[in-house]
Amino acid sequence: MYDDKKEVIKDLSFEIPKGSWVSILGHNGSGKSTLAKLLVGLVKAESGQIFIDDIELTEKTVNDVRKKLGIVFQNPDNQFVGVTVRHDIAFGLENMQIPHNEIVSRVDEYANLVGMGKYLTKEPQQLSGGQKQRVAIAGALAMHKDIIIFDEATSMLDPEGVMEVTHLIQDLNKNYNQTIITITHDLDFALKSDYAIILKEGSIIGEGKPSELFVNESLLQQSKLTVPLGLKTYLDVLHDASLKENKALIEAIWTYNLKK
Ligand SMILES: Nc1ncnc2c1ncn2[C@@H]1O[C@H](COP(=O)(O)OP(=O)(O)O)[C@@H](O)[C@H]1O
Ligand SMILES: [Mg+2]
Repeated sequence: MYDDKKEVIKDLSFEIPKGSWVSILGHNGSGKSTLAKLLVGLVKAESGQIFIDDIELTEKTVNDVRKKLGIVFQNPDNQFVGVTVRHDIAFGLENMQIPHNEIVSRVDEYANLVGMGKYLTKEPQQLSGGQKQRVAIAGALAMHKDIIIFDEATSMLDPEGVMEVTHLIQDLNKNYNQTIITITHDLDFALKSDYAIILKEGSIIGEGKPSELFVNESLLQQSKLTVPLGLKTYLDVLHDASLKENKALIEAIWTYNLKK
């Protein structure tokens, strides 16, 4: 709850299994960012409990909890704190007072992992938005965060940047078992995740496997989320008298949507 005492998040309960990729969806103002801030203790809940990895989030544990959670925000420029890529990835590690040798090796390791190994000496103005977001992700990974929250982390990127970061998120989740929460209003993006939670006015109006959830048209309507063209085509074909018997076509449209 913010100072103006308006209830932004209410009656909300969910669990995120380790190693999963969960999407939190919702229209502007539905409470997504507030939820992320609650999880890292930047906003205090009026009631209820939050457990991260069995630790209850309280004033006493907030620093321990923050060691487990990293957030990558929307604007790639606001979160670049280093003079160069190397310094930027090292920044969090220096704050954690990790020994110098260890910092050097982690910076190399995670810069390479996000495909920025050759850019260590570059300054932010020499990088694209997607590259800056990849550096932000490397910073979170280098701190060995158990969970990384992406709050609309691709919304300010050009299509190429969106693709870079999307592929990186998929790779981290599938190949490194990284627990990921992506906050988004992009249904196509959320379709790639394991589980989706749809918020409206601070409450959950639907949750489940994205492929099952996003075909619920009344839910989509209620959520006020923009339905991407591919998904809309799929739903239209399902209702079209002459096309709806064509199972191969329906299957093909669906597979195409997932692949994008
Ligand atoms: N710092 C703040 N102080 C007061 N109200 C806020 C603050 N930040 C967000 N809100 C309100 O909380 C609601 C949810 O906002 P937010 O969590 O940012 O939604 P989303 O990320 O889904 O767009 C909105 O009504 C917004 O006006
Ligand atoms: Mg937001």
